[in-house]
Amino acid sequence: MFEQQPEDLRFYVKQLATKALQSSEPSAWFEVLYAGAKGDTAKIPWAKLTSHPYLQDWLTNHQPFTSGQKALVIGCGLGDDAEALAHLGFEVTAFDISPTAIAWCQERFPNSTVNYIVADLLAIPSQWHQAFNFVFECRNIQALPLNVRSWVISCVASIVAPGGTLLLITRVRDTEVEPSGPPWPLSDSELKQFENLGLQQVEKFVFLESEQIDVKQVRIEYQLTSSER
Ligand SMILES: C[S@@+](CC[C@H](N)C(=O)[O-])C[C@H]1O[C@@H](n2cnc3c(N)ncnc32)[C@H](O)[C@@H]1O
Repeated sequence: MFEQQPEDLRFYVKQLATKALQSSEPSAWFEVLYAGAKGDTAKIPWAKLTSHPYLQDWLTNHQPFTSGQKALVIGCGLGDDAEALAHLGFEVTAFDISPTAIAWCQERFPNSTVNYIVADLLAIPSQWHQAFNFVFECRNIQALPLNVRSWVISCVASIVAPGGTLLLITRVRDTEVEPSGPPWPLSDSELKQFENLGLQQVEKFVFLESEQIDVKQVRIEYQLTSSER
């Protein structure tokens, strides 16, 4: 989440997040950050202005069937991952809690076919239940604290259509001890919750963040095999 960034930006983000947590509004600080950036992408720590390399790698190697397939990008930030999926032919919906981020996406990609909308992962619209053939979750769960983790994981899992794919990219931790975040990497037992919700692990790929080699991350492909949820 905070890959290679100036110390003052890291400090500012930590301050914003701490304040939001104190008022029990774990997602509130993202809009403050995006709005305060005033269009300067250098002030958004995770913005790389290109799709995630391990999403791109997965798409290249798996060549998913996209025609008529509905994709959902969770916490889409500035929209690059959503655009990559739309270019392949998916019918893409991308959402973020931050109205400024969504307006920014629409400004960056004025001719996009992506349906960019403001929505809350912690309160997803009921019509999204099992509605998407491909769901991309990248570095959003880790940006939310542990007291909402179980709920967030169940929200993410609930969006995947029977037979559909969830592609997850996240930091992971080797212990069940609560980390000091943000970000809060996922533990094995937290990852296990996806499987308990009917998502079968198809492929797991472990990698280290290129700029911070001590940060362990995973890309996991899940498939929803059961519709009994
Ligand atoms: C760490 S950033 C990751 C952005 C993007 N997924 C990426 O990997 O570059 C977390 C994103 O999730 C969004 N977010 C945080 N809480 C959210 C929520 N409850 N619902 C939807 N989006 C949320 C933030 O606004 C932010 O854009």
